[in-house]
Amino acid sequence: MEKKIAVILGDGIGPEVTQQSIKVLDAVAKHYNHKFHYSFGLMGADAIDKTGNPLPDETIELCLNSDAVLFGAIGHPKYDNDPSAKVRPEQGLLKLRKSLQLFANIRPVNTFPTLQHLSPLKAKNLEGVDCVIYRELTGGIYFGAKNLSDDGTTASDECSYSAAEIERIAHLAFKAAQKRRKKLTLVDKANVLETSRLWRKVVQAMASQYPDVTVDFLFVDNAAMQLIVNPKQFDVILTENMFGDILSDEASVITGSLGLLPSASVGNGGALFEPIHGSYPQAAGKDIANPLGSILSAAMLLDHFGLHTEAAKVRSAVQWTLDNSFVTKDIDPVNFYFTSTIGELISDLVQDKIPSELH
Ligand code: IPM
Ligand code: MN
Repeated sequence: MEKKIAVILGDGIGPEVTQQSIKVLDAVAKHYNHKFHYSFGLMGADAIDKTGNPLPDETIELCLNSDAVLFGAIGHPKYDNDPSAKVRPEQGLLKLRKSLQLFANIRPVNTFPTLQHLSPLKAKNLEGVDCVIYRELTGGIYFGAKNLSDDGTTASDECSYSAAEIERIAHLAFKAAQKRRKKLTLVDKANVLETSRLWRKVVQAMASQYPDVTVDFLFVDNAAMQLIVNPKQFDVILTENMFGDILSDEASVITGSLGLLPSASVGNGGALFEPIHGSYPQAAGKDIANPLGSILSAAMLLDHFGLHTEAAKVRSAVQWTLDNSFVTKDIDPVNFYFTSTIGELISDLVQDKIPSELH
């Protein structure tokens, strides 16, 4: 198989974790006889520094002309603490999602038995946790009209959704539920928000098309609590953009490390793969960040190409490193391995080589 992959290294630890994914994809290509062609584009604070624009047109072009996008991370503290900044790194990612019509963000939440001790939850609440969040990604309050009054004392962000926007992601979520434990939970705030009532109505109406899927509804405040007290009740969680942003960070830490979780953003053709963690600027350039979120995102990319055997191989290599305590500093602050070492190990394992670390 021959594929074009657009790579956006991005900010902070983005470059160093994404380099590990490229190593792993190269190992996959070599072992299974595929060709992956990479082209690099700028986005985020890195792009602002180099071009003044968080998402140069060339990057959009590059992504539109590729079979998938592999992305690192975005964000820089110098913008976070400056509310009046007109240009922000995050605008790049939002615009890219819109340009590629990536309306569904898929975030699987699995626990790793060997990392249970790192979770803020008790072990008994963790067993059997296996859910996936379907977050709407190109609508809602993120993309509504924004306004700041001339005197700077009043601000507004509009939240709107159309039935069509809800339906297209709901279909993906229902189909995912059919392949899993057949349960779909819509998370909303239908007791207060008009948009949430529309979500409920649309999803209720669709349920008859998926008779094998049980649908239930939770208010987002309750869902936030349930994710802590009883996370194993969830199978597929479907929700709007901002609720999904918040809940997926919450869900990710129960696994023990934010550095472990991948995500896929899909829609009308395009597909982008990125770890759910941020740019972690304190660790940038130190070779200590956890590359597994990125490498598991690369596995999702392989699945997207239909390369399921290859994806499974990458996942089992990741599992091997965890089981054998080849972990980064976030997991074991005393006996840890560097980001690049973990990348090499997984590349070796994917090719059935005896890991160089063990020679
Ligand atoms: C995410 C991030 C982004 C979001 C930011 C960087 C714009 O937090 O992918 O979850 O809020 O969607
Ligand atoms: Mn987020």
